[in-house]
Amino acid sequence: MSDRKKVTLPALFSKVAQAEPITMLTCYDYPTAHLQEQAGIDMILVGDSLGMTMLGYESTLPVTMEDMIRHAAAVRRGAPNAWLVGDMPYMSYQPSVETAIRNAGRFMAEAGCDSVKLEGGAEMADRVAAIARSGIPVIGHLGLTPQSVSALGGFRLQGKGAAAAKKILDDAKALEDAGAFCILLELVPDRVCQLVTERAGHCIIMGLGSGPHAHGQLLIYHDAFGLYPKFAPRMAKVFGDAGAVIRDGLEAYVREVTERTFPGPEHWFGMKDEEYDELSRMLG
Ligand code: KIV
Repeated sequence: MSDRKKVTLPALFSKVAQAEPITMLTCYDYPTAHLQEQAGIDMILVGDSLGMTMLGYESTLPVTMEDMIRHAAAVRRGAPNAWLVGDMPYMSYQPSVETAIRNAGRFMAEAGCDSVKLEGGAEMADRVAAIARSGIPVIGHLGLTPQSVSALGGFRLQGKGAAAAKKILDDAKALEDAGAFCILLELVPDRVCQLVTERAGHCIIMGLGSGPHAHGQLLIYHDAFGLYPKFAPRMAKVFGDAGAVIRDGLEAYVREVTERTFPGPEHWFGMKDEEYDELSRMLG
């Protein structure tokens, strides 16, 4: 297992102070978490995007707290030292402040998360404040917020016009004032991300598809490694085509089993002659 030091809040803020970009990826399972830990990823988001990437839904809306806790706990087992973020799924925080605190607490107590993330701006400031007051570090999420995809008119760039951009800046201020230690900006223009980052006080700004000016970058693991079959978003560079590697391997497996070239003697276990002879006698 990895011997790196646990990523803490002071360590993240120290990266920001030293203008060192923070690395963040989504992750949903134990083996991938192990690889991300080995690669030294600073922050891991167990996103409710797992509804689409892992469970094959059309949106993130059907994802439950039980889904999230199970996947977050698996990721924690694989990545004990990364800063782990549990993504609060649809309707786990919207109904009330109390619901939000209870479900945020579940991520910490049952999955070993270091913080939680929720979507929304000023209208969610009371949830953010209450969770932060409970001692749980909170991340806000602005711009393209997939739980509101229907209201936003689809998975598309947000904050293109001046008024919409101003609302993102106001929402970022409201979230920071409410106690968010970090804000994720998803799919907003680069200059909007730059303005939010420049105006942030004691708040880390992470960008996803929002240009180079944030304090760090987040990508969805499945997009970055060729593992999501339905769609390849422009914002995600493919850093390695794991999908192609696995597909080639699967084709080779089918071929070798079909042609009886697998398994080879190095893949099976024999039995001593005397034991086999004894077995034959027992069977008559
Ligand atoms: O669920 C998720 O992975 C997210 C990212 C899209 C930011 O919220």
